[in-house]
Amino acid sequence: MSHQFIVQLDVSSHVISRHVYGHFAEHLGRCIYDGLWVGHDSPIPNVRGFRKDLVHALRELDIPNLRWPGGCFADTYHWRDGIGPKASRPSMINVHWGGTTEDNSVGTHEFLDLCEQLSTPDRVCEPYVAGNVGSGTVREMAEWLEYITMPGESPMSRLRQSNGREKPWRLKYWGVGNENWGCGGNMRVEYYCDLYRQYAGYCRHFTPNEKLYKVACGYWEDWNQVLLQHCHPHMDGMSVHYYTVPGTWQKKGSATQFGVADHQLTLKKAADIEGFIVRTKGQMDRFDPKKRIGLIMDEWGTWFDVEPGTNPGFLYQQNTIRDALVAALSLNVFHRHADRLHMANIAQTINVLQAMALTEGAKMLLTPTYHVFEMMKKNQDATLLDGHLKTVEYGEGENRLEQISATATRGTDGVVRLNLANMHHADEAELHVDIRGGSVKEVRGRVLAGASLDAHNTFTASDVVKPEAFSGATVIGSGLKVKLPAHSVVVLEVR
Ligand code: AHR
Repeated sequence: MSHQFIVQLDVSSHVISRHVYGHFAEHLGRCIYDGLWVGHDSPIPNVRGFRKDLVHALRELDIPNLRWPGGCFADTYHWRDGIGPKASRPSMINVHWGGTTEDNSVGTHEFLDLCEQLSTPDRVCEPYVAGNVGSGTVREMAEWLEYITMPGESPMSRLRQSNGREKPWRLKYWGVGNENWGCGGNMRVEYYCDLYRQYAGYCRHFTPNEKLYKVACGYWEDWNQVLLQHCHPHMDGMSVHYYTVPGTWQKKGSATQFGVADHQLTLKKAADIEGFIVRTKGQMDRFDPKKRIGLIMDEWGTWFDVEPGTNPGFLYQQNTIRDALVAALSLNVFHRHADRLHMANIAQTINVLQAMALTEGAKMLLTPTYHVFEMMKKNQDATLLDGHLKTVEYGEGENRLEQISATATRGTDGVVRLNLANMHHADEAELHVDIRGGSVKEVRGRVLAGASLDAHNTFTASDVVKPEAFSGATVIGSGLKVKLPAHSVVVLEVR
């Protein structure tokens, strides 16, 4: 069976916000502590407490933003506990995630320093802070914003300066709570709407020439309907979360021990994110036809059972070529819907859920998901080209999805890229790319394909799954013939 992808080089739709390649780091398990953060005195090489190897790896992704401090943790977090001399910072219990004691060594200054370390001369990693609505106060939130962003004379800018930071930080993205329908306060939507309007009214920042981008906490259809109705003029973004959980919340399924049926079920559930986005966009269109408000998918990714022997509250899971396929198909969905989707944040950066990297002591490995983010990073701020895909269904029974996932984009460097993935567990796929509205002279690219569905990197074999040069694409007339290996992600550059 061959598949066809018609790409119209001279017809483009929208720009793909770089922020759909965003990340999320919560005070959860070993994401921050014993993950990104090892502390100044650690023998593990670090810059002001953050691991050099991880910062380097994340910079390679052109990481566009980082969401922090949660997640559920955000609505328990009191920012004043995380400033000032470390010895005088009070401890707290991380009630949602393992009941561990948190000493607040990573607070506002450290997080914003991390974002600066993750920025490159031509690419800023924007901080995206989730404020506490569930157990905080309006005053606490307003003062946090003043503390971070006030350049002039004020009580909070004086406090910041007394803690060693003269200049304010630039800050644009602000979440007004997290999952306030659940861990963030178990609120009814009507109650959250009132709180949102009140909190958002006092959320002011002082960053010059930049409007604060306030994100309201969405959920599923019923909640979003009421939220949009009462709050749409007061919000810049509406957040939703979508996790791919193959089993039930009690028994989600193993990250590495799975068969073909689990593979198909996982991919089908991941692909269903598109229907969710389409329905949410439809709701938003009714209140905001001009698309002023961004859809913010600020948590997404696979959620499996934790690795055997690890703390169930730490959500530590391995990452296989199946995760790579979930990442590629999700990013392609995000490309298609970036007319409304302004940001997406994969959960979570290090050692938690669908992570970019895993650590064990001084050792570090990059996951297959990391490699997909690296291979596809040039789609940040690219323009989506008109593409029409003819493929077949893959899978059994209810667990069927399109076998091929594909988007075509033109990057800010002018290069056309084809982002392709073959979901099939065993079969290679022959894809004919029909290029219209321009010609093709040369093609080159890279492929990520493990030897098996469960292929993954370990601390003793960290290069088992990594991108390789791809030789399966040839120019034929006005198009390409591409042989996509089974369970592979391929990114081609066409000139
Ligand atoms: O990412 C793990 C958790 O999932 C987050 O803390 C919460 O927002 C969501 O339920």
